Amino acid sequence: MSRNITILYGHPDSSEKRLCYALAKAYQDAAQLTGHAVRRINLSDFDCSSILSEEDFNHGAVPKIINEAQEAIEWADHILLIFPLWMGSMPGKFKMFLEHIFRPGFALDYSKKGFPGQLLKGKSADVVVTMGMPTVAYNGYYFSHGIRNLRRNILYFCGIKPVHLTYFGGVNSVKKKTLSRWMDKMHYLGENPG
Ligand SMILES: Cc1cc2nc3c(=O)[nH]c(=O)nc-3n(C[C@H](O)[C@H](O)[C@H](O)COP(=O)(O)O)c2cc1C
Repeated sequence: MSRNITILYGHPDSSEKRLCYALAKAYQDAAQLTGHAVRRINLSDFDCSSILSEEDFNHGAVPKIINEAQEAIEWADHILLIFPLWMGSMPGKFKMFLEHIFRPGFALDYSKKGFPGQLLKGKSADVVVTMGMPTVAYNGYYFSHGIRNLRRNILYFCGIKPVHLTYFGGVNSVKKKTLSRWMDKMHYLGENPG
């Protein structure tokens, strides 16, 4: 079944030399070849200030690129979030980007009392993260808190479920054969969203 996929490319560096770039491309190519429709939003196109107050979060002007990202998310059945691990979590700029996107009224409905209404129900996501340390260290020693926070506190909270996590670790000393396996994995994810 053909699906609508939106890629949120969360690397602050737009260089094609980045591993994330190659992984995202492998995913996109495989998805499109399989017949899925793909849209891509690049963090590096985002040049806006941080949200500095609750008032701004609730009622501030929404930058054009955020409108585009929200529209692409609304359109999507499935979302790929891909970024490098920085200081144990997503890069700060990507977090800022998500704060802009997942605003009340778009992702959450606070109009009724109690638990906020989840406005993004029915969508699924893949979160793909590259990292310098081996994945066994991130999972076993750091308990992957930074990424589990993204899954539970942001994506699940807005109703996006299931969210599948994929980590590629030890990126600084990766062998050709391993890299080829990672590309195969991204092809598989692109062919089978959700
Ligand atoms: C500012 C910064 C912080 C980083 N923090 C971590 C970290 O906490 N843990 C880790 O394993 N790797 C860390 N790294 C390494 C990156 O995760 C790694 O370089 C990246 O995943 C490689 O993918 P890329 O080529 O797409 O950038 C950090 C790199 C930078 C530049």
